[in-house]
Amino acid sequence: MPSGPLKGRIRVPGDKSISHRALMLSALAIGESTITGLLEGEDVLATAAAMRAMGADIVRGDDGTWRVHGVGVGGLLQPEAPLEMGNSGTSTRLLMGLIASHGITASFTGDASLSGRPMGRVITPLSQMGADISSAPEGRLPLILRGMSPAIPITYRLPVASAQVKSAVMLAALNTPGITTVIEPVPTRDHSERMLKGFGADVEVEEVEEVDGERVIRVRGEVDLQPQTIEVPGDPSSAAFFAVAALITPGSEITIENVGLNPTRAGLFEVLRQMGGSIEEIDPREVGGEPVADLLVKHSALKGVAVDPALAPSMIDEFPVLFVAASVAEGRTTTSGLEELRVKESDRLDAMAKALELVGATVAQQEDGLIIDGTGGEPLAGGGPATTHLDHRIAMSMAIAGLASTAGVEVDDTSPIATSFPNFERLLTSLDSK
Ligand code: S3P
Repeated sequence: MPSGPLKGRIRVPGDKSISHRALMLSALAIGESTITGLLEGEDVLATAAAMRAMGADIVRGDDGTWRVHGVGVGGLLQPEAPLEMGNSGTSTRLLMGLIASHGITASFTGDASLSGRPMGRVITPLSQMGADISSAPEGRLPLILRGMSPAIPITYRLPVASAQVKSAVMLAALNTPGITTVIEPVPTRDHSERMLKGFGADVEVEEVEEVDGERVIRVRGEVDLQPQTIEVPGDPSSAAFFAVAALITPGSEITIENVGLNPTRAGLFEVLRQMGGSIEEIDPREVGGEPVADLLVKHSALKGVAVDPALAPSMIDEFPVLFVAASVAEGRTTTSGLEELRVKESDRLDAMAKALELVGATVAQQEDGLIIDGTGGEPLAGGGPATTHLDHRIAMSMAIAGLASTAGVEVDDTSPIATSFPNFERLLTSLDSK
């Protein structure tokens, strides 16, 4: 672990959400798609293995370019063995959507973390479309999904702000006759919409003006997808750890290259700026249909803020590391409207409250958020071991907390980091200026 200021330039791995979608859509197009910058973490590799098991030809070249020959919309084959989803909620929920409108049966298994997460949120709309799904009690994994072809187009209003549920229905719609409609009351990440349009799908997004942010998404099914060349931008959720690391470590100045800054993902950077963080966007440009820039981040004296709950969907995965920043800011940071954090890879409100308290932070846990009184720039005591609960973002957040502590922070299990950010430790060490 670095012990001095962080200095230098890094490039974080490809975006996880975009990587999953790139593999899935390429596997449905007829012809060869190529993908560069794909995140080669365990979650995305689980998606690749599942698409292979259903007939796609997916090969990684020595230069890191992935080549995918798809089976065509409606062409997925019956997998011979259960689809092993590991820790990946995105793989599970999106693939359930894809399979729901194919006349095949698949079973899904996952690790202890994934097996505790709610799948009822996708089981409900996919059952309405005709899929027959039997799961462990309370809609958990393992489950068996028998798809229906032809499936039934539905209109579905999302009861939770979830891009995974939205995407599951949109993916099911691809092989469903007619128009399937998803209404999202609050905008969530829109990578599926963007990429589906790029592949030539018939997708229409209507912003409903009178209602704040509500969007109606219509997908007309049974349209062929055209193979694409996809460049995956860097993952803002991975860049987040390094942005906070540089902000809270005195003397730091780093550049994080090629960070995806889709407005439905970039909420953390806005909040960190509100806290007084110096984060500059250099050379804004487009990569793979997504806005991207290099981020120049300098150590800053941070102040606590009341985080606007309306920003939550655009930074839903970044709260653990925001809590770390808040722990060493001056004054109080309050967060609310974060019930969804309780059903991520772990209960992230509880896990972060306990881990941060263990290393000396002042945290009050509420039903829907944390209230944190920061040290005003003083280091935390440190110690541990912090319990990660098979959650990569808890492990990485607490590693970053260690940078702003006197004794360092011990983390009980770093293995989950490989699900989304295999070279995290190496990149962090590479920024050590000592
Ligand atoms: C994701 C959506 C979010 C996010 C997850 C990735 C996606 O989950 O937390 O890491 O790729 O669609 P929810 O849909 O549960 O909010």
